[in-house]
Amino acid sequence: MASINYDEKIPNNVDLAGDRRLQRALEGWQPKFLDWWGEMGPTLRTTSVYLRTAVSVGRDGWAHFDQVAVPDYRWGIFLADRDPDRVIGFGEHRGEPVWQQVPGEYRADLQRLIVVQGDTEPASVEQQKLLGLTAPSLYDLRNLFQVNVEEGRHLWAMVYLLHAYFGKEGREEAEGLLLRNSGSPDSPRILGAFNEQTADWLAFFMFTYFTDRDGKYQLGTLKESAFDPLSRTCEFMLKEEAHHMFVGTTGVDRVVERSAALVREHDTLDIAPCGGIPLDLIQRYINFHYTVSLDLFGSETSTNAANYFTAGLKGRWQEARRRDDHRLTDDGVHVQRPGADGTWSADELSALLALNLDLRDEYIADCETGIKRWNRILASAEIDVRFALPHPGFNRAVGLHSGHHITPDGTIVDEATWRAASHRWLPTSEDLAFVRSLMHPVTERGRIASWVAPPRNGVNGRPWDYEYVYLP
Ligand SMILES: [Fe+2]
Ligand SMILES: [Fe+2]
Repeated sequence: MASINYDEKIPNNVDLAGDRRLQRALEGWQPKFLDWWGEMGPTLRTTSVYLRTAVSVGRDGWAHFDQVAVPDYRWGIFLADRDPDRVIGFGEHRGEPVWQQVPGEYRADLQRLIVVQGDTEPASVEQQKLLGLTAPSLYDLRNLFQVNVEEGRHLWAMVYLLHAYFGKEGREEAEGLLLRNSGSPDSPRILGAFNEQTADWLAFFMFTYFTDRDGKYQLGTLKESAFDPLSRTCEFMLKEEAHHMFVGTTGVDRVVERSAALVREHDTLDIAPCGGIPLDLIQRYINFHYTVSLDLFGSETSTNAANYFTAGLKGRWQEARRRDDHRLTDDGVHVQRPGADGTWSADELSALLALNLDLRDEYIADCETGIKRWNRILASAEIDVRFALPHPGFNRAVGLHSGHHITPDGTIVDEATWRAASHRWLPTSEDLAFVRSLMHPVTERGRIASWVAPPRNGVNGRPWDYEYVYLP
């Protein structure tokens, strides 16, 4: 187990001290990162927050919890331990030793993959910038800061790779990661979903459920990479990512739980007047966040994805568990394609070209588990409403469904029909205004907003009503 020396300027387990040039380059980037954090990070000023800091990558106890003044948080660089016997698991180099340096022929592609992943990390901090001003409890406020500082660390993780392995171009890309900003008209973030503002806490819970989960699947494919430093970086990031999705899963749980209690108490689904979020509105938020997250998987067919796989840059989700030749040169898959005549037809595709679809299917199956748990909450409250994921063709801007008008149940309709009904399927401006009207900050210890139930447990064995955040 490699442990980290927290007296260093940049805590790390990559022996930065042994590489003066790299250390100086990162020390040069650090003040720019802190400026970015000050300007684009959380608006709310705090005295201290009870935060988890990564201090090691070992199996037992990799994190340390303490009250921290947020600007003094130590963003570090941690890679999972190296496996000296690791070999490439897929593609044309299958069975060869993994790479400790970037092969010249794959340099541009690897750099691009790292920049696109890196761009999402600070983007989500920017999207969530204002949420601290309306947190429903100190517990939730603390979780928001935890997610934000870890997304900051994920940016560090990608910047380390750019600085350490991609020379001058990598350093320029590292600067660019701080210059693009979420929603900026001139230099937006690279991917669409990361330019949408996370305007309220229901959106935050949906984002951490659906969009951080996309992050989990992307990191899972990069963890398979033949470029070993990238693989080890992503393996460690996945540990932190699990908490972000926990915030989303339990956050939506608690909203559903509270709404269900209000439905029972007042014997009506119209719980808006009693300060609750109606179930149909929750469904519209699910529809929106799920479908913009599906767009992040890219087109169903992709020669880039095929080339990345064949080259060994990006694998499949849990590549080692797949029972095939891990090369996919002869395999086929079926995909349903919408037609202009309003019918679906089955197309056969090469499995290699359909890798984005493969990853998206894994993601969809995972998303279903959330729907099941939220429906269990409704069932145990004896409410006969049920949530569902919409058809993957619904509300899509990317891939074979874009340009078609598909209802949540998968019916292809014309544009006028779709538009006339879309207020039942996607959050309306009234929905957003209503949810925003509920967002009042609750900062007294042990108290919570009207629209969400308290959590079952606190953080790290503390009670849920612990003083997680001290405000000035
Ligand atoms: Fe992240
Ligand atoms: Fe995350």
